[in-house]
Amino acid sequence: MARQVSIGVLISGSGTNLQAIIDAIEAGKLDAKIEVVLSNQADAYGLVRARNHGIAVEVLNHRSFCSREDYDRAVIAVLQARGVELVVLAGFMRLLSPAFIKAYSNRIMNIHPALLPSFPGLRVQQRAVDHGVRFSGCTVHFVNEECDEGPIIIQAVVPVFADDTGETLAARILEQEHRIYPHAIQLYAESRLKVVGRKVLVDRPGKDEKQALVEPPLEE
Ligand code: GRF
Repeated sequence: MARQVSIGVLISGSGTNLQAIIDAIEAGKLDAKIEVVLSNQADAYGLVRARNHGIAVEVLNHRSFCSREDYDRAVIAVLQARGVELVVLAGFMRLLSPAFIKAYSNRIMNIHPALLPSFPGLRVQQRAVDHGVRFSGCTVHFVNEECDEGPIIIQAVVPVFADDTGETLAARILEQEHRIYPHAIQLYAESRLKVVGRKVLVDRPGKDEKQALVEPPLEE
């Protein structure tokens, strides 16, 4: 049974993942309430998206703080004051301090535009194209102390074509991000995620043992 989970969404930019989460909630597909959208950038377009849907926003400029720890303490204070249970990073371009991760242990999700553990870090769509991989995709994971390293909740795979650029691949991946992020949050709301060591066990119906993607496809 799903309960309504109180979430806080942290952004730095355009907020298309935020929009996908808002749309899923409004469509009745996601049992969550966005208590606050917090940005470290005052001009993040995601703030406009939030306001358009009557969601509370907060801007905390990291440059006004002496240290990462001070900044994170202020962010945590906002989240706790709003009763946030699950922190959703959606293009938040900052590393979190260990104190932040401890305060919300296994209650911080992030989405990354590559198939982790391949291509952690930045500019990952371009790096996937440059490397010549046949598949890339996106990963939703719980956040731990290491960057892009935490237990994986869900991944989506897309093909990479010879004529792809970083931009065309990013667009293909983003479409899948918008599908899997609301779903990951819904799995959390339904209490179907259990973190065991570095694995996330998902309470799920069946599995397709023959599932495989091949690129270029086999010509049988
Ligand atoms: C996405 O590609 C996400 O995977 C990465 O940052 C980007 C955010 O995009 N973490 P948006 O702001 O949600 O449009």
